[in-house]
Amino acid sequence: MEKKIALIPGDGIGPDIVREGTRVLDAVAAKFNHKFSYENVDAGGVAIDKYGEPLPEKSLKTCLASDAVLLGAVGGPKWDNVPGNLRPEKALLGLRGGMKVFANLRPAVMFKQLSAACPLKDEIVGAGLDILIVRELTGGIYFGERGRNAENTEAWDTERYTKPEIQRILKIGFESAMKRKNKLCVVDKANILESSRLWREVAQEMAPAYPSVDLSFMYVDNAAMQLVRNPGQFDVIATSNMFGDILSDEASQITGSIGMLASASLGDGTGPGLYEPIHGSAPDIAGKDLANPLATILSCAMLLRYDFGLEEEARCIEKAVDKVLDEGWRTRDIAGSDFEKLEAAGKIVGTKKMGDLVIKAIND
Ligand code: IPM
Ligand code: MG
Repeated sequence: MEKKIALIPGDGIGPDIVREGTRVLDAVAAKFNHKFSYENVDAGGVAIDKYGEPLPEKSLKTCLASDAVLLGAVGGPKWDNVPGNLRPEKALLGLRGGMKVFANLRPAVMFKQLSAACPLKDEIVGAGLDILIVRELTGGIYFGERGRNAENTEAWDTERYTKPEIQRILKIGFESAMKRKNKLCVVDKANILESSRLWREVAQEMAPAYPSVDLSFMYVDNAAMQLVRNPGQFDVIATSNMFGDILSDEASQITGSIGMLASASLGDGTGPGLYEPIHGSAPDIAGKDLANPLATILSCAMLLRYDFGLEEEARCIEKAVDKVLDEGWRTRDIAGSDFEKLEAAGKIVGTKKMGDLVIKAIND
């Protein structure tokens, strides 16, 4: 199959990790007889420096004209003091809105090889951790009306959801649950927020169409607590943009492998999806061959699965990553307390070597 992939390396370690992602995609293409071509797109801080804006129209156009988009990371201290509407993060919101990718799938999985890095006690994580957070991505308070009064003494942001917006994200929640353990927890603040009450109504209305799915509801404050108290109770969590933003960071941290977690942002299937590691741009280690490319590489697996329907190829990448971890290879961020031992054994590797190892495992 022939596909065009837009690449947004972005800032910080973005270029380091996207490079490894494309090398891995090329290895998969060679092995399975596909042809992937790439186009580089400027977005984030680099675009601010070059064009004075985080997401030039041309960048969004190139993304929309491609079959899938792979993003590294955007942002860094260099742009911390630019006005809000020009911040690198604006590129992310612009891409999500512009590409209409309303569903953000964030799997929080604990890799068994890295369980020592999990900050929770063994008795809490027990058999492991495998949660899928389905975050609404193009609505709610991040996209709602905001402003300030004339005196600059008051500011507001608005949480607002329409029924169709809730339906389409919950549909993905229900369907994802059916492919997993058939449990869907809708997280909200329905004891206070009217918008949350609408989410609940819509979920209850949809539930009969998914009889195998065990639907539950939880307030977001309780969910934040339950995630560290008993994370094993969750399978799929579906929630609003802001709650999903917060809970997905929490969930990723408890897996102990934030440098390992991928994400997919999907629309209605008529346009490209947006794939990115969930970690940030880590400017302090940019360009030093220190970044962990595995979250990006695993995002490439999601890209192949969701945008191109290439399940076998996606699994091939995931298995290769598993094998490399099984063999004990680690970048420093995932070495944990074993760092010195691994370093002495020559098992601590940089960005490029990690990419090489995954490629080798793909070809084995
Ligand atoms: C994320 C990030 C972004 C968000 C920021 C950088 C705009 O935190 O992808 O979770 O809030 O969505
Ligand atoms: Mg976030």
